[in-house]
Amino acid sequence: MKVAVFGLGYVGAVTAACLAQRGHTLIGVDVNPQKCEMIASGRSPIVEEGLDDLLLQGVQSGRLRTTTDVLDAVREADLSIVSVGTPSQPNGALDLSYVYRVCQEIGEALAQTRRPHVVVLRSTALPGTTETCLGILRGAAQGTEVHVAFNPEFLREGSSIRDFDAPAYTIVGSDDPVAEAALRELYADVPAPLLVVAPRVAEMVKYTANAFHALKITFANEIGLLAKAMGVDGREVMGLIVQDTKLNVSPAYLRPGFAYGGSCLPKDVSALLHLARREEVPVPLLSALPQSNRAQIERVVDQVLATGARRVTVLGLAFKAGTDDLRESPAVELVERLIGKGCEVRILDRAVQTAKLLGANKEYIERRLPHVSRLLTDDPEALIHDAQAIVVTQNLPEFTRMLETVQPGVPVFDVASLKAPPAHLHLHGVAW
Ligand SMILES: NC(=O)c1ccc[n+]([C@@H]2O[C@H](COP(=O)([O-])OP(=O)(O)OC[C@H]3O[C@@H](n4cnc5c(N)ncnc54)[C@H](O)[C@@H]3O)[C@@H](O)[C@H]2O)c1
Repeated sequence: MKVAVFGLGYVGAVTAACLAQRGHTLIGVDVNPQKCEMIASGRSPIVEEGLDDLLLQGVQSGRLRTTTDVLDAVREADLSIVSVGTPSQPNGALDLSYVYRVCQEIGEALAQTRRPHVVVLRSTALPGTTETCLGILRGAAQGTEVHVAFNPEFLREGSSIRDFDAPAYTIVGSDDPVAEAALRELYADVPAPLLVVAPRVAEMVKYTANAFHALKITFANEIGLLAKAMGVDGREVMGLIVQDTKLNVSPAYLRPGFAYGGSCLPKDVSALLHLARREEVPVPLLSALPQSNRAQIERVVDQVLATGARRVTVLGLAFKAGTDDLRESPAVELVERLIGKGCEVRILDRAVQTAKLLGANKEYIERRLPHVSRLLTDDPEALIHDAQAIVVTQNLPEFTRMLETVQPGVPVFDVASLKAPPAHLHLHGVAW
């Protein structure tokens, strides 16, 4: 393919070199003439292992050239990749002015070439940017056909050529079949799955990945500090943590939904935070966990109350399905808050009901939660037909079946993130 790359920095220079190596024809564009000259003479403008060689090969093969002239590039290319900088403003906000300027310039060039063109945004940009860019491009292109996609870049400086050649996946954010087809062709020989999603999802994925990486580093450091205070080497601890690929380094616990609870997580986080205070080890990330968790329960309470509902059904009372353990269950907290706000609450939780009948958890339930225990019922009339709002806290097939009979107008808060919810309901996810 004939591809123009706008912005020959860390991302653009590597992208141009790697695509040229794969046999595409590349025109690199930058406002900085020195960068253009360096690349045109086969030298890398950045320090990056292997990049000098690749650029030189690209130039010598005649598949890579540079220009500062936008029209020159757009006239030759069928597809433009935008990889200009998106720095922070002094207040922390994202500065998209370079991206918008390039889109305006490409659009103006397209108004002259009158040839269909695909624009791929590769700069990291917040959800909604691709839509804005499409508006800018269409406005400037004056009727020339233009297609856009967002294609986040996941390479890491220092290993960027290896990362480009072997990514975990290629994400294409587009609802435009022409742009999708062009990217499938561009990456045809990249040995990784190509996943097509909505532009906003692709934009959000890039930020989520970077926030997750920052979270991992900070988490490991705070655990290391706490471990050290106890005479333990945190590297050994984290070395063991990552070997559990069932619960630790895995999809477990990474689905947006409800607060954590139960007999372990709140208690053990609390013990760690107490230890940190005692040892005078600052752990701001870990300290934020209970606060963020409480806020998630509050958010559900507020959103249920905001519907104006006073008769509320809660499906699932224990902290997760398949247990009768009510200790520190966020659903209990939710019910107590709703009762406190004057709601009439009905609860279905068969595990808790059975435990109560068998006497196993009877004493705990009746002594600690008499007000909540009285609200347990399996009467569908009270649970479904009288309900003005429903909160589902557990992912159980029975709850999904019960929801089939709910009237479409009744607000249903699905904090369990049900696998196959009834299609006729508009579910409120709170965190999704
Ligand atoms: N650096 C990384 O490792 C990395 C990884 C993934 C994503 N990203 C994202 O990719 C984008 C680019 O990052 P970078 O590190 O390559 O930036 P960079 O600052 O190294 O390069 C940006 C280049 O764009 C050029 N430029 C600015 N305005 C231009 C215009 N109007 N026309 C042509 N060129 C123009 C600049 O001269 C510069 O050479 C950013 O959004 C960044 O967040 C970076």
